[in-house]
Amino acid sequence: MSHFTDKVAVVTGAGSGIGRALALELVRRGAKVAISDIDSVGLAETTKLALALGGDDKVDSLNVAEREAFLGYSDAVATHFGKVNLIFNNAGIAFTGDVEESEFKDIDRVMDVDFWGVVNGTKAFLPHLIASGDGHVVNVSSIFGIFSMPSQSAYNAAKFAVRGFTESLRQEMLINKRPVKVTCVHPGGIKTNIARNGTAAVGRDNDDLAKAFDKIARTSPEQAANVILQGVEKGKPRVLIGMDAVMLDAFVRLVGARYQRVFALLGHRVAKL
Ligand SMILES: NC(=O)c1ccc[n+]([C@@H]2O[C@H](COP(=O)([O-])OP(=O)(O)OC[C@H]3O[C@@H](n4cnc5c(N)ncnc54)[C@H](O)[C@@H]3O)[C@@H](O)[C@H]2O)c1
Repeated sequence: MSHFTDKVAVVTGAGSGIGRALALELVRRGAKVAISDIDSVGLAETTKLALALGGDDKVDSLNVAEREAFLGYSDAVATHFGKVNLIFNNAGIAFTGDVEESEFKDIDRVMDVDFWGVVNGTKAFLPHLIASGDGHVVNVSSIFGIFSMPSQSAYNAAKFAVRGFTESLRQEMLINKRPVKVTCVHPGGIKTNIARNGTAAVGRDNDDLAKAFDKIARTSPEQAANVILQGVEKGKPRVLIGMDAVMLDAFVRLVGARYQRVFALLGHRVAKL
């Protein structure tokens, strides 16, 4: 019997990458899983793979940026399974562009999905997690929620915001003695479609960016899912994924705000990462 046996777990953005790997690993470990995505093709593939593992997932189309839909979805999941133990707020998008190049709509879109999507999921499911008596909120930030990079202001803003929101929630759950653990996840480079699915400011070639990302991403989504579930099992407040994330986190803590100067000096090489 695993930590996840018979627990009900919700995974957003389960049609690809880390979300798919999480959903499949949760099925392997005996959880009942509710998966969702905006991408119906990717979601159908995850459903097929989960079925092959013996999973009987609840599958729904969900845009995490749509608050009312998320609220209705949380009630539907709770009714379907009778309880909800875990929410993995995983869905996310990437955007590359300097502040001067970015349009308001680009920044809004990233915040809507990467920040408000996490807030919507947390708020929608929190009452159900508390009611379960054994709940866990797992919010996916990024190593870019620990330090900033040129050309990533919107993504950095959303991922720093996820970290702030999540760390505050964890303390509130402790103070108010709620039966809900809270974990913030900070992946380094994971070999997924995030860059290929991403968008870029006018004049930037997203294909080139995706190729550069493919070269530096070292960790597989399956490894990432295992590290996340290990951290969840241990009730860790913060989960760093990959040696790159561990080293960069240590570097930034060592040099403090001076990391910005170092990254700026590295210039366009860093901007391309
Ligand atoms: N891959 C990395 O290197 C990396 C690093 C740090 C953080 N992350 C974070 O990990 C999470 C998962 O990303 P991934 O790498 O697996 O990327 P991915 O592109 O492979 O998967 C993301 C999934 O989210 C879905 N999605 C996008 N917008 C959505 C919306 N509005 N509503 C519902 N679903 C939506 C996509 O359709 C896709 O299936 C994201 O939050 C991402 O920011 C990834």
